[in-house]
Amino acid sequence: MADNQATLTVDGKDYQLPITEGTLGPSVIEVAAFQKAGYWTYDPGFMATAPVESKITFIDGGKGELLHRGYPIDQLANNAEYLEVAYALIHGDLPNAEQKADFYEKIRQHTGVHDQLRKFFEGFRRDAHPMAIMVGVVGALSAFYHENLDVSNEEHREITAIRLIAKMPTLAAMSYKYSKGEPFMYPRNDFNYAENFLYMMFATPADVDYKTNDVITRAMDKIFTLHADHEQNASTSTVRLAGSTGANPYACIAAGIAALWGPSHGGANEAVLEMLDEIGSVENVPEFMEKVKSREVKLMGFGHRVYKNFDPRAQVMKETCDEVLDALGINDPKLELAMALEKIALEDPFFVERNLYPNVDFYSGIILKAIGIPTSMFTVIFALARTSGWISHWLEMHSAPFKIGRPRQLYTGETHRDFVKVEDRK
Ligand code: SDX
Repeated sequence: MADNQATLTVDGKDYQLPITEGTLGPSVIEVAAFQKAGYWTYDPGFMATAPVESKITFIDGGKGELLHRGYPIDQLANNAEYLEVAYALIHGDLPNAEQKADFYEKIRQHTGVHDQLRKFFEGFRRDAHPMAIMVGVVGALSAFYHENLDVSNEEHREITAIRLIAKMPTLAAMSYKYSKGEPFMYPRNDFNYAENFLYMMFATPADVDYKTNDVITRAMDKIFTLHADHEQNASTSTVRLAGSTGANPYACIAAGIAALWGPSHGGANEAVLEMLDEIGSVENVPEFMEKVKSREVKLMGFGHRVYKNFDPRAQVMKETCDEVLDALGINDPKLELAMALEKIALEDPFFVERNLYPNVDFYSGIILKAIGIPTSMFTVIFALARTSGWISHWLEMHSAPFKIGRPRQLYTGETHRDFVKVEDRK
């Protein structure tokens, strides 16, 4: 219900626009009255537009605060397992012991994929980018779960969420194995979620006694949590818009993967490592920074539409980076280079004036590289983790009546004109 009202005066007429308060963050002004006045609101890039109401994630960009169902991200990352966070995103609270055991068992039961799905991989070149494979193969899941999937049925929606969260690690690992020409590894359900993923990524059929490093497993799980959800970002908004047409949820998630791939979004983690490779050494940082300031290039892994202060995920990621490199005895010069970049950027007026701080993608690549994950798989890891966020927003949308998303536009094209025969055209 509207708490109070704003008045819009246009063409000498006043329109009362209801203002609705949330539990946290800015209130919203409902703009439907603009239609009556014969106007649209205009907000390229949705800088100040809330197309939905949500209870899942709250971000305070000024304070650098990120809450999932009210729980601060640093507390979740340092204390919860990713699947507990996924449960909270979907159901609203962290699971109690019984709910946790039940959810974990359901996930375990659905980590496998239909054997026919293997054939989809063979259509890709060996050097295909794994994100291209993931868009294709996750979209293909809609062919395996369509006829008897009724999105208006809550039980069907619940099992879809379980299937997607359970299968993404399997499909992600398959996209990696395919690129290496190694056999796919079947999921092992005696491993936990992160262990299972690392097993499917790095084990071969000969590794009968495969063991993971606890530090790496914990770091992998923490990275999943740090990428789980992030309010109405571009890929989540894509999933919601696709879902608003009633589309197959597997196809909606594939649309989210496609949107995430862009270097301005989830593709930035891969771009950070490419940038660090290009810079090469700390000596080259000043010259690179001049290219950034002249807008030849962007400082990848820096800046954020919402965070105008530090990204709390980047802080946890940096701590994890130190832990992993220390535990593995790795002295990665890229970390030193990244820290030099961060130091310079945090002191340089160009970045300070634009509120450019490291975001979630700045340090993640260094950890993933230390774990042995190739750069091309970084965004796949992001997509794997974000699936719990995407599907929780899809579930939230379907949990109440919703309208198809249908934005309008500011039209600046040709005014009305009649058809001209080709012989009369200039
Ligand atoms: C993610 O939305 C989410 O929540 C996304 C995400 C999630 O979890 O879902 O957090 C994940 O996508 C993180 C962001 C990863 N992307 C990058 O690291 C790529 C580099 N960052 C930029 O492309 C940029 O910062 C964006 C896209 C992230 C945000 O862009 P905005 O909000 O549209 O800001 P802008 O482009 O209008 O920039 C404002 C100013 C501009 O300078 P002026 O033209 O006004 O002088 O800041 C400059 C920009 O040129 N700027 C940068 C910069 N980012 C912005 N300059 C250099 N390097 C950068 N990285």
